[in-house]
Amino acid sequence: MLQTFDYYIPTRILFGAGKLADLAKTELPGSKALIVITSGKSMRANGYLDKVRELLKRNHCDSVVFDRILPNPIKAHVMEGAALAKREKCDFILGLGGGSAIDSAKAIAVMATNPGDYWDYIAGGTGRALPFKCDPLPVVAITTTAGTGTEADQWSVITHEERREKIGFGCAKTFPVLSVVDPELMLTIPPHLTAFQGFDAFFHAAEGYLANVATPISDAFALKSIALLARSLPTAVNDGANLAARSDVATASTLSGMVEATSCCISEHSIAHAMGAFHPNLPHGAALISISDAYFRFFADKAPERFCDLARAMGKKGDSPNELVEALAELRRVCHVDAIKLSEYDLTRDELPAIADNAFDTMGGLFQLDPVALTRADVIRILEDSWR
Ligand SMILES: [Fe+2]
Repeated sequence: MLQTFDYYIPTRILFGAGKLADLAKTELPGSKALIVITSGKSMRANGYLDKVRELLKRNHCDSVVFDRILPNPIKAHVMEGAALAKREKCDFILGLGGGSAIDSAKAIAVMATNPGDYWDYIAGGTGRALPFKCDPLPVVAITTTAGTGTEADQWSVITHEERREKIGFGCAKTFPVLSVVDPELMLTIPPHLTAFQGFDAFFHAAEGYLANVATPISDAFALKSIALLARSLPTAVNDGANLAARSDVATASTLSGMVEATSCCISEHSIAHAMGAFHPNLPHGAALISISDAYFRFFADKAPERFCDLARAMGKKGDSPNELVEALAELRRVCHVDAIKLSEYDLTRDELPAIADNAFDTMGGLFQLDPVALTRADVIRILEDSWR
């Protein structure tokens, strides 16, 4: 088969239990960090913020903290964080936490050096898709969750809160320069969040494997990620203190980030982002899980070989594409996320067509990467079938 691809992942990744300590001796991209965390309590309560500041200090690096990021991060906080970085003359941005903190760090890094509004640079929705005037500040990512893969890719998902646009954006300049993935920081994640995040990683890999832009490199990352998740996500959910399982899931998450950097998500993510844009209290992983049965059923007979490969990666025989649909149902069951009710997150049945429209309007590009084209009616049907 004739094959062409571009491969570019410029991020140094320090991976493993206890690796956070290396922050004290690893070369940093500057001498004053803006540390970006969410407005929740966990980074302080778990001692992670103090520890990171102490390690930076030992590495002759000052730091300032910006702690306003929401679980579904909004543009206003990107602009606020960037203003603080400028005022404090920070020379790099350090995202500490899950995807919301690290994605925000990437967006803040863009706006710390560029004029105007963040949406001037966004490609999608009402974004103006202007080129950057200046390179963003360097980004360091320290991930305390296993799911987004943002530590290994260029993507940042931010919501324009007034326009209800939740859009993933990134380019060659928005990869972190350095990421620390230390599974010891993940031991305290509660079971339901472990499941939401782990499934996010699963869908990054599975979507990237089904995308019509998949390459042999993304395929290798995706199949390994799926195998690790099938083996260890149930243990990480049900026995959170199991460091080996946490390590497997963290590896899978980082590999899935590499899938996003070398292939791409498909429309399952457009639909889930639209759901999150309408209802910011709906966790990203929960949105994906809730539509996954209907979504994968839709594509099963349209990409049978790829479905069989994914089923085999999950330990099944892989004789029929439906084995993946069944294996996915089983994984949802053992991870206790098989009964997510969208109505509990305030979604209403009436708004499903508007969510479908939003998915096409804001992240329509991913629909072009689907194995076969989805229509608006197909998306509404998937949402209807997922309704409970
Ligand atoms: Fe995701």
